[in-house]
Amino acid sequence: MQNNTPWPAPKVAIVGQGAIGSLIGFKCQKLGYEVQHLVRRQRQQSYCTVTDLAGKTHHLTPNTGLITQPQQFDLLLVPVKAYQVLPVLRQLQSFITPQQVIVLLHNGMGTTEQVKESFPNNPLIAATTSYGALKPDANTLIETGKGHTHFGWLGQVDTATKQAIEPVLSALLPPSYWHQDINLALWKKLAINAVINPLSAIHNVRNGELADHQYQRDISTLCDEIAKVMTAQGYSISSAELNKNAQQVIAATANNYSSMHQDLKFNRKSEIEFITGYVCAKANELNCPVPFNQRLLEQVTRLESVN
Ligand code: PAF
Repeated sequence: MQNNTPWPAPKVAIVGQGAIGSLIGFKCQKLGYEVQHLVRRQRQQSYCTVTDLAGKTHHLTPNTGLITQPQQFDLLLVPVKAYQVLPVLRQLQSFITPQQVIVLLHNGMGTTEQVKESFPNNPLIAATTSYGALKPDANTLIETGKGHTHFGWLGQVDTATKQAIEPVLSALLPPSYWHQDINLALWKKLAINAVINPLSAIHNVRNGELADHQYQRDISTLCDEIAKVMTAQGYSISSAELNKNAQQVIAATANNYSSMHQDLKFNRKSEIEFITGYVCAKANELNCPVPFNQRLLEQVTRLESVN
């Protein structure tokens, strides 16, 4: 494995070993970056078999370290559930210095405000990717879909930091796009999640089944409501564009169960508060009613509490 970057690559730390975190770890190893996964508990066997998109199998031993004793790092990637972001960063607080760059990568919105407040001196990046990965067990990773990745700095950052970090991140899950205002890309992804996740969880269906005629009215209503909130926020977008984006993802991930479907099925906390909950909270601030999103928020919250 070789380092393809023209300078000493920053040391990367990845929180956890979820599907996307493991995929990024694998890509880091391929690119020759120095990388560690920060975990709660060290397992005896940390080997991993990765099947890439071409069907080729790779065997690797990820470098893991306890989150309570991380090795030195320059770049911290946080690909965890939205509700875990602040707790894990608080856990790492005593190891985080102002030079370290923090990258948030998760479904939903609302965490960046919280992180900025708790880590006001750190350069912060928000990211969203449409790459797909599955981790059927702790030692197996399957790359399921090539996507694209969007990044944006949250706040002012010096040129040297940008020059050191942007190529490193851009190489991981290409093609990568850097945005002056990442919020539009985050809202577009939020809209996709606000359509697919609650509907697939409530109706207990795979993503692809949402292409069925019976769900089209609900999808249109959700897109109408979200387009209104986005427009009120200054992101002029049509309901038709949001609908088209959602239908594309429904088709591209037809055989998958959404993360929210799986969270409810396995009695885990879902990200509803950061997806539909965020839409409803912004709608409320902007005095822009979103009754159907509100109904889905209540339905999923009820299903969560029944579990
Ligand atoms: O949360 C998920 O499952 C995914 O973000 C998506 C895009 C809805 C595909 O299943």
